[in-house]
Amino acid sequence: MKEAKAWEYYSEEEILEANKLKYESDAIVKFYEDFEEPKYTYREYDVVFSAVVEMLKPHLSGPLRAVDMCGGAGKGAFTLKKCCPEAEVTLVDLSEKMLNIARKRAVKEGFTDIEMVLSDAYSFLAEDREYDVVIFSSAIHHFKDPVNLLKTASKMLSPQGVIITIADPNRLKSTRRFKFFEFLAADRNYKKMILSNLFKAKEKPDVFDVAEYQAYYGIEDELLCKELRKIGLRPLIHLRYPAGESCFTRIMPYVGLFWAFSLVLAKDDRYAKEVPRLRTRIKENMPFAISFVD
Ligand SMILES: C[S@@+](CC[C@H](N)C(=O)[O-])C[C@H]1O[C@@H](n2cnc3c(N)ncnc32)[C@H](O)[C@@H]1O
Repeated sequence: MKEAKAWEYYSEEEILEANKLKYESDAIVKFYEDFEEPKYTYREYDVVFSAVVEMLKPHLSGPLRAVDMCGGAGKGAFTLKKCCPEAEVTLVDLSEKMLNIARKRAVKEGFTDIEMVLSDAYSFLAEDREYDVVIFSSAIHHFKDPVNLLKTASKMLSPQGVIITIADPNRLKSTRRFKFFEFLAADRNYKKMILSNLFKAKEKPDVFDVAEYQAYYGIEDELLCKELRKIGLRPLIHLRYPAGESCFTRIMPYVGLFWAFSLVLAKDDRYAKEVPRLRTRIKENMPFAISFVD
């Protein structure tokens, strides 16, 4: 946490520095090291990735090439390998410590052929590489300008390539309804943290975590899609869903809490006819209620 000016006045570079500090800090690294994936199911990853892989396969002439941008401990990269074992996968992250967690987990899970690259996203996206899938998992909220990020990433796509964003919060994240559920779902330590942050925010409303600003307030996902369309990226899928602990993902839809979103973006209309099937596959396999935005 840092004494802050208003979010609007932070540059992309300052946010990058905040992310570097955060994801090299011992506390956050310990959180990811200790984190037991089964605590949350993350079934949405399997469902979305499998459906996209199935759609792409007939359009590929070789093994699928994918990059997990801001890949951290490897959830996106590993899930893709599970859906498509022959895929050539690269994982990029700016934190060596996060990459070390990913390396250890890759060995444990038997994924020894994932390329791990230490780099910030924009430096990596300037390289001369080509991918069929570019993944941003819980990542675009770490950037000031997600539209520019996704536009830059689209330059790395093969002609048949798509971008998948997943596990970012929309504006429902800042509602009281969400905060109530978040508190209910939290374990003892997390409850303590939520309460102490609440008091801090009351005492000093201008103090916030620069790296996580959009994780607290959420991204305006409809506006994001509108801006993406303007730069020629077509949302094949714009999905809203209730991420988190599995019991809560079943209850949240009853109070309209589709607070996380995922996008599948293409550069042209080649997949237009396949969208209904893609949607059906995703809807049928998701273990909780979801909502598509047109
Ligand atoms: C919330 S974690 C998500 C990790 C992983 N993708 C997942 O879904 O579990 C965000 C990750 O993004 C990385 N990160 C943040 N800003 C970045 C940037 N500009 N370039 C590359 N990595 C970045 C952090 O180091 C961290 O590992």
